[in-house]
Amino acid sequence: MRFLITAGPTREAIDPVRYISNRSSGKMGYAMAEAAIEAGHTVVLISGPVNLTPPRGAQLISILTSDQMYDAVHRHVGNCDVLVMCAAVADYKPARVSAQKIKKRDETLSLELIPTRDVLASLPRDRQFLAVGFAAETNDVEENARKKLRAKACDIVVANYVSDPNSGMETDENEVTIFFRGGEMNKISRAPKKNVARELIKIFANEREKCLTKKS
Ligand code: CTP
Repeated sequence: MRFLITAGPTREAIDPVRYISNRSSGKMGYAMAEAAIEAGHTVVLISGPVNLTPPRGAQLISILTSDQMYDAVHRHVGNCDVLVMCAAVADYKPARVSAQKIKKRDETLSLELIPTRDVLASLPRDRQFLAVGFAAETNDVEENARKKLRAKACDIVVANYVSDPNSGMETDENEVTIFFRGGEMNKISRAPKKNVARELIKIFANEREKCLTKKS
């Protein structure tokens, strides 16, 4: 199968030396890319700026901004069987990017932020590929994850609770709950991201197979 996996954060420029970003390390996305290759799938990995070695055998596309992420996903999604949107795409970007470094002044500074485009929500509803979203939540995990599943018309949403210092962002372990479009759910208990990734890739490939069987 052909996997398109996104990973890491995006960076939204404020001026030539500053940006807004988030704490995503890219570890989960890279672990999934590795697990997919290990399982014999082909992988295109669209990655934001991270400090990780790209998995051998993956086609790596490096991006920085949410707009570049949007364009890259749209360019490649037509050629995949499973899209895994693991990237922590910024929700807002500065309304204006200053061409010059903003100088320090002795007064408060307000930044006007505008929403970025939502990559997942922009994808066609009538599609051939399985769309997997991720939901990083600090509260009401199930309710929020199910909302995202519906709002972004995903086939699967993988949710993780990011307030736990031992699981989720920047850590080497993860614990996730998987919500399916049909209402079912499944849990993977805390384990190294590598193991969680292997399980997830199996589940995604299996689900994509089921969709194909239903359609034929
Ligand atoms: N996502 C996206 N485009 C964006 C923002 C998010 O495609 N501009 C995707 C993420 O890659 C992820 C899913 O949407 O698969 C959910 O992202 P998350 O940040 O958890 O949710 P948001 O929709 O941004 O909502 P909130 O931040 O309010 O929880």
